[in-house]
Amino acid sequence: MTASAPVFLVKDGALSWPEVAPMRERIYPPEKLINTPMHGIEWAHAQRRVLLYLDDILRAVAGIHEREVLCDGQKLRVAGIGGVMTEPEFQGQGHGKQVMLHVMELLRTEAQCAFSLLFCEDHNVGFYGKLGWTLFEGDMVVEQHGTTGPFSFRNVMVLPLAGPIPVVRKLDLCGLPW
Ligand SMILES: CC(C)(COP(=O)(O)OP(=O)(O)OC[C@H]1O[C@@H](n2cnc3c(N)ncnc32)[C@H](O)[C@@H]1OP(=O)(O)O)[C@@H](O)C(=O)NCCC(=O)NCCS
Repeated sequence: MTASAPVFLVKDGALSWPEVAPMRERIYPPEKLINTPMHGIEWAHAQRRVLLYLDDILRAVAGIHEREVLCDGQKLRVAGIGGVMTEPEFQGQGHGKQVMLHVMELLRTEAQCAFSLLFCEDHNVGFYGKLGWTLFEGDMVVEQHGTTGPFSFRNVMVLPLAGPIPVVRKLDLCGLPW
């Protein structure tokens, strides 16, 4: 039997949340989340999502954000990726990579952004590194619970979209992280 081809759909962030929420609950149940560096962090809601389906069943997802940020005080439009997940029982089968490649191609072709940025835990640096992402070494400022200040969540990774990534010492996301 030949394997089905994946189907990629781009959906509105708020409208697609109900079909993504159960997967997130399976991956990050509250009792597990409390023991991760993600505990207590207020994240922005995705504006759009790329969803990967096999045989009409959701297998992987990635959220997209676009925002004007401040790079050493200069306004710059960047694209964010967040909420990258593969359904636990189907991890390790290439779905996460496929959904990321789809998002990266979409951002390169249609987003008018200088570069893309994401946050990830230590154990996922290798996953994004294989896709060409590199660690951002500058300081990060974000909004958290109504206050703007330094954000020490590790790790911040970046990917060029249009030309080389500028050298940035301080990046203010001008809002919640994603
Ligand atoms: C991280 C995650 C999205 C990866 O998705 P996946 O479908 O399992 O990954 P893939 O099968 O597409 O892997 C693609 C490649 O990355 C590698 N890889 C996968 N996870 C990796 C990791 N944590 N570290 C290093 N490499 C990894 C695979 O070996 C594969 O390598 P190859 O292309 O050389 O064969 C998935 O494990 C997941 O949902 N984890 C829980 C939620 C999470 O941590 N999301 C990330 C938030 S930043």
